[in-house]
Amino acid sequence: MSTAPGTPEAPGAARQVTVRVPAKVNVQLAVGAARPDGFHDLANVFLAVSLYDRVTATPAAPGELTVTCSGPYADQVPLDRGNLAARAAELLAARHGLSPDVHLHIDKDIPVAGGMAGGSADGAAALLACDALWGTGASREELLEICAELGSDVPFSLVGGAALGTGRGEHLTALPAGTFHWVFALAHGGLSTPAVFREFDRLTEGTPVPAPEASPALLAALAAGDPEALAGTLVNDLQPAALSLAPGLAATLDAGLGAGALAALVSGSGPTTAFLVPDPETAAKVADALEASGTCRATRTAHGPVPGATPVPT
Ligand code: C5P
Repeated sequence: MSTAPGTPEAPGAARQVTVRVPAKVNVQLAVGAARPDGFHDLANVFLAVSLYDRVTATPAAPGELTVTCSGPYADQVPLDRGNLAARAAELLAARHGLSPDVHLHIDKDIPVAGGMAGGSADGAAALLACDALWGTGASREELLEICAELGSDVPFSLVGGAALGTGRGEHLTALPAGTFHWVFALAHGGLSTPAVFREFDRLTEGTPVPAPEASPALLAALAAGDPEALAGTLVNDLQPAALSLAPGLAATLDAGLGAGALAALVSGSGPTTAFLVPDPETAAKVADALEASGTCRATRTAHGPVPGATPVPT
């Protein structure tokens, strides 16, 4: 394999590329039984929401692959090769016979280890940024393949919008969706996704776990942009497991519902909690009440769906 460095002299390459990438909330997370490979089949209805990380790729000296991070959660982000942004650069470079010489800077605004796919978002953004920086010209199909290799949620971070993820979440079908408004309550500390799935297995041991299926009523409410109807259908099968590991989240869910949220649920594997609200005014009110309740670390408001990873002018 050639080890020609990914220099900006390659045809179609750029000096610096920044990609903006959104967080996600799962409006339905139906979880099946553990598979022989340890993963769980899912019916995972993703919605991309307007909290963003920005990943900037700039050329680095031969043999150098570095990651830096700024933003409110920067101190919680691993900067080694375990970071999905670094792994994305390595996978793309390996496929194209390049050396992954790049500096990746993550401007992080998506909560870390919060169930909002922040790490996955950085993987998808870094992939797109390196593809443009190195002029590799990977097809959309190839990018999606690399995303699936990086993690179950990474393909969705690339495509954004609203989508149904099946398999372990990586096989995506785009869904029509109106705009919905959300409040997110950030918890003290994080939850490990594998630990939450293990707790799901423990809690469901000895009981039959049905095959996961998308809810027709939920998909209809999503397409209609009807928050009241969506509120009645939101479901996260990982919620009992997340609450078992982080019982304090129950008080956060209650505080948001008491303040006027239409519905409340744990976001993905948690511990971020998500509150569906009818409009931005109610979002501000619910966010204030959640902060005053002392049951969370901070709140963020957002709307979705929004587009997936997108290059932005620098
Ligand atoms: O795919 P990803 O690396 O993000 O998954 C992290 C962990 O979450 C997996 O190692 C597995 O423990 C769990 N997981 C799962 N079933 C899925 C997705 C993730 O059990 N469909």
